[in-house]
Amino acid sequence: MTMRPYVYVGAVLLLLFGLPSGIVASPPESADAQPTVSCSDCHEQAAAFTGNPHARGKVENGQVPNAVCESCHGSGAAHIEAGGDKTMIQGLAGAKGADACLTCHARPDGKTTHRGSAHANTDEVNCKTCHAIHTAPRGADKLLVKPATELCATCHLGAAASFRDKPYAHRIGRGGMECSTCHNPHGRVGKDNLRETRAGEVICLSCHTDKRGPFAFEHGAQSQGDCTTCHEPHGSNNPKQLKRARVMELCSECHSPTGGTYGSQPPSFHNTGFARYQNCTSCHTAVHGSNRSPALLK
Ligand code: HEC
Ligand code: HEC
Ligand code: HEC
Ligand code: HEC
Ligand code: HEC
Ligand code: HEC
Ligand code: HEC
Ligand code: HEC
Ligand code: HEC
Ligand code: HEC
Repeated sequence: MTMRPYVYVGAVLLLLFGLPSGIVASPPESADAQPTVSCSDCHEQAAAFTGNPHARGKVENGQVPNAVCESCHGSGAAHIEAGGDKTMIQGLAGAKGADACLTCHARPDGKTTHRGSAHANTDEVNCKTCHAIHTAPRGADKLLVKPATELCATCHLGAAASFRDKPYAHRIGRGGMECSTCHNPHGRVGKDNLRETRAGEVICLSCHTDKRGPFAFEHGAQSQGDCTTCHEPHGSNNPKQLKRARVMELCSECHSPTGGTYGSQPPSFHNTGFARYQNCTSCHTAVHGSNRSPALLK
């Protein structure tokens, strides 16, 4: 009967500290014994949390240490001591709850600012509108409440409808084109909500590499403005997603004495009364820039 002493020790421990899985009647006094009361003893959230990115590398013996939960909810000691009094722990509901996220995620990083973006910390839009810590669907990317483009569409009805309804538009949601391909949801207000290529160029060039240049003869318009001077990024009723129905109208915004005088004036042999001269790009085919023709003819 060599096992007997161990059984006795076990029984004594039980008497002293209570059943590890139950709710302790009297909280343990010694600091060493504290970990026997785990958030998971009472909360099913804890079991699911082993797969959460916030517990990555911190799971011990298949358990999420209390410290992980406390990194967002604050100290749980008083809450546990009071047997789960919910007024004694931060619930993080409502817009203010997002402050907890910002203790770690407020890092301004290039164009990204979790705190200062148009999507930062209002009652209407805050971290938790888009990210669900405990209830994101299984396998959700970045803990998003729903797939990103679907999510954007819940608030930006106009942009989403434009892609869907305009005859000339990128095929959003397919082939790797999402709202967040071009936009950074945590971007600063203004142009910074648009992503850039790694080289810091307009995002369009990540796919339309042939428009990148540098060209021996740049089109002034492109170096002055950007792709959206002439194209509608969310889709258009006009072929090639152009801003104007007729190419001539677009060019005339800058190249005509009556419209803009920003660009150079076409030589006088251009008689736009003739149909032949109305489709400018039938001759000026290299409208995005050329290495061979200063007049962008090839
Ligand atoms: C990354 C931050 C974060 C961590 C870590 C975290 N939580 Fe939460 N928790 C939240 C947020 C945010 C809410 C509020 C959800 C809401 O209101 O939409 C919440 C809500 C809760 C609630 C209230 C009920 C509910 O689901 O809304 C409980 C209970 C809870 N958390 C327990 C835990 C436990 C237990 C752990 C550790 C296993 C934990 N939390 C870890 C952020 C976190
Ligand atoms: C002794 C059991 C017990 C333990 C241990 C426990 N809780 Fe709770 N907790 C509760 C009960 C009961 C509630 C109230 C639930 C309700 O009213 O729906 C609660 C509520 C909460 C809430 C929601 C507060 C709100 O405002 O709604 C959070 C968050 C929470 N617990 C986090 C934790 C964390 C984190 C730990 C570990 C550090 C923990 N709990 C440990 C029993 C416990
Ligand atoms: C204690 C610091 C801390 C707090 C507080 C915190 N996070 Fe995090 N969060 C991290 C770390 C670290 C990672 C990176 C985890 C990894 O990839 O290993 C992360 C990752 C994420 C990710 C990316 C998940 C993925 O799949 O890559 C999202 C989204 C996120 N956190 C949102 C939030 C939100 C929303 C809150 C507030 C409710 C919050 N975090 C609070 C530290 C924190
Ligand atoms: C409008 C929706 C929206 C809001 C609000 C939002 N996010 Fe995000 N977040 C996203 C999307 C979409 C992604 C995935 C982006 C991608 O695919 O590159 C993401 C990714 C992340 C990531 C992982 C990649 C990264 O950028 O570091 C973290 C961390 C994160 N969000 C934290 C936060 C925090 C903290 C807040 C609140 C201050 C917040 N988010 C508010 C939509 C949102
Ligand atoms: C091909 C790149 C691209 C995609 C994909 C894209 N956008 Fe945009 N978006 C832009 C550009 C470029 C601007 C700036 C327009 C300007 O400066 O005239 C913009 C502007 C915006 C604006 C601010 C101005 C406005 O029109 O209200 C919102 C909001 C917006 N986009 C939402 C979305 C949403 C939602 C989606 C997905 C359904 C989306 N975008 C997809 C490139 C894109
Ligand atoms: C919960 C609602 C909500 C969701 C979801 C949402 N937005 Fe927004 N978004 C807003 C609000 C509110 C503003 C600020 C007011 C405005 O410009 O309409 C805004 C502004 C913007 C702007 C303009 C920012 C600026 O600099 O002025 C862009 C671009 C944008 N959102 C893109 C997105 C993208 C991409 C997604 C999906 C990842 C998304 N939004 C999801 C509510 C939302
Ligand atoms: C993720 C890659 C990608 C990005 C980023 C991108 N495009 Fe595109 N673009 C495509 C693809 C693929 C097509 C053709 C298939 C389609 O219609 O979706 C296309 C088609 C076009 C067309 C029409 C071509 C035709 O022959 O009708 C124009 C114009 C255009 N893009 C302009 C832009 C502009 C301007 C931007 C930046 C605001 C941009 N694209 C960003 C991939 C991209
Ligand atoms: C000065 C106005 C203007 C600017 C600026 C401009 N484009 Fe265009 N783009 C056009 C016109 C006009 C066409 C139609 C040409 C035609 O009908 O042959 C076109 C056609 C296209 C096409 C489809 C045909 C092709 O050549 O592949 C793509 C893709 C495109 N543009 C992408 C871009 C991108 C990306 C940028 C920014 C780097 C850009 N455009 C800037 C005027 C412009
Ligand atoms: C946003 C204004 C703008 C628009 C729109 C625009 N251009 Fe330009 N374009 C310029 C500027 C600026 C220059 C450079 C003028 C200079 O260097 O004097 C230029 C240069 C040119 C040149 C080279 C000739 C020269 O003087 O260097 C041609 C050809 C040309 N554009 C044709 C077109 C055509 C065709 C369209 C319509 C598809 C068009 N442009 C639309 C502003 C524009
Ligand atoms: C039938 C062919 C053709 C059409 C169509 C055409 N162009 Fe031209 N364009 C030319 C030629 C050829 C030149 C070069 C003349 C030269 O080298 O001196 C030229 C020169 C120009 C220049 C000045 C270039 C410079 O080097 O100073 C501008 C600006 C211009 N065109 C704009 C337009 C616009 C805007 C349209 C549409 C309304 C248009 N073109 C339609 C053939 C055409």
